Amino acid sequence: MTTANIIDGKAFSETLVARVGEQAGLLAEKIGRPPALAVVLVGEDPASAVYVRNKIERTTTAGMRSIEHRLADTTSQADLLDLIDTLNDDDSVDGILVQLPLPPQINEEAVINAITPDKDVDGFHVVNAGRLATGQDALVPCTPFGCLLLLRDCLGSLSGLNAVVVGRSNIVGKPMAQLLLKESCTVTIAHSRTKDLQAVCAAADILVAAVGRPEMITGDFVKPGATVIDVGINRVPAPERGAGKFRLTGDVHFESAAAKAGAITPVPGGVGPMTIACLLRNTLVGAARRFDAGPIDI
Ligand code: GUN
Repeated sequence: MTTANIIDGKAFSETLVARVGEQAGLLAEKIGRPPALAVVLVGEDPASAVYVRNKIERTTTAGMRSIEHRLADTTSQADLLDLIDTLNDDDSVDGILVQLPLPPQINEEAVINAITPDKDVDGFHVVNAGRLATGQDALVPCTPFGCLLLLRDCLGSLSGLNAVVVGRSNIVGKPMAQLLLKESCTVTIAHSRTKDLQAVCAAADILVAAVGRPEMITGDFVKPGATVIDVGINRVPAPERGAGKFRLTGDVHFESAAAKAGAITPVPGGVGPMTIACLLRNTLVGAARRFDAGPIDI
């Protein structure tokens, strides 16, 4: 039985994209062109192709310019770095996103750190990670920023709350912890080596699951009334839908967690749509900063 408030990330993201679109229109009047996002896809990874298609579609929906670069999976690191240099130097490009993962001949860290920090709309560059960690203006990774917007909308002030982030990736876990710390939460980062993970999670007022293991966080891990944010998107077999069929599920076992939580994000329709909305927001923020067009409060 579901008792929790189901957090509608899809609806929230649509409102956010509409606001970004309005502000992008105003910025376009000031700088003489719409903000522009360059997306680079190397290779044919099917999941990446879907993500990139969605990013491109949403960018144009928000009235921004989308620039696509599709490279063969045999592309060398030197050629990819050359493309990034060109995009760094191109004044008509405001944001650069290189879809991860990259093929094995390319070092992801080298590529991420080759993007000029002011165009790093993923917020993965070491300069942006450092700015976030030290409380300076940063481009913040999109998925954790999207989670934060949902949490603020759901709870108002987060000050003093016990937050547990399960997962320590550079893309989600670490920046999520930094953002929650900035909101004056008491933050624990848990991971695969954490002792008694269930007890650690069960003390959380805010529980963020970003482990990449389908339905690992069950109701037994959830404090009654807690707010549960499920970052996972896992494709698992669904024989009940027919032979060879799949379904999407999160890192949280939705039914059991929803019976205990005060509020919970579903999968799909929770965190997922927020990531792209925040990417567009970052592109807008990056463009406004580069052209000194005043702060964007979104
Ligand atoms: N691959 C999976 N998630 C992401 C993301 O947020 N940004 C990029 N660049 N690649 C990803």
